[in-house]
Amino acid sequence: DAVEAAVRVLEDDPNFNAGRGAVLTWDGTISLDAAIMDGKTRAAGSVAGTSNARNPISVARKVMEDSPHVLLSAAGADQFVIEKGFETADQSYFETEQRRKQWEEFKGIKVSGADIDKKFGTVGAVALDSEGHVAAATSTGGLTGKRWGRIGDSPIIGAGTYADDRACAVSATGSGEY
Ligand code: GLY
Repeated sequence: DAVEAAVRVLEDDPNFNAGRGAVLTWDGTISLDAAIMDGKTRAAGSVAGTSNARNPISVARKVMEDSPHVLLSAAGADQFVIEKGFETADQSYFETEQRRKQWEEFKGIKVSGADIDKKFGTVGAVALDSEGHVAAATSTGGLTGKRWGRIGDSPIIGAGTYADDRACAVSATGSGEY
């Protein structure tokens, strides 16, 4: 509950590269990744390349708790969002003036999609409760100008997101390729 709540606040804040304020893809669209993991059970859920849920982290939790799968992507993830009754949003909600300007600059100078200077603010949270249980959650728009259905580390359990009571909880940022 805590890591989901924290990440939802950050997804709603346009200053971060997650939810509203996410960076734009090569085609100028939104493509969001999110993951959540419960360290007590090591259950996990994630979405990649989704574009219609206002809060992707809550969709990731739903994948964990109310689907037979761990990772849903692209059109299928968007369909899951609709079927499960999540609040949706369109491009005009997610896109900010700042991100459009960054994208225009990116398209103008055609720097590498993995350029560290072009990556702004994947969000994450980890929690430890009074009984020693840990959890992790991560949400991102990925990298400005990402192409070809690129998926980074954030929604990959064991890469950008992991939680295990026997060890720790981790939410990573940085260029996912690395
Ligand atoms: N760490 C976020 C990404 O590379 O997509």
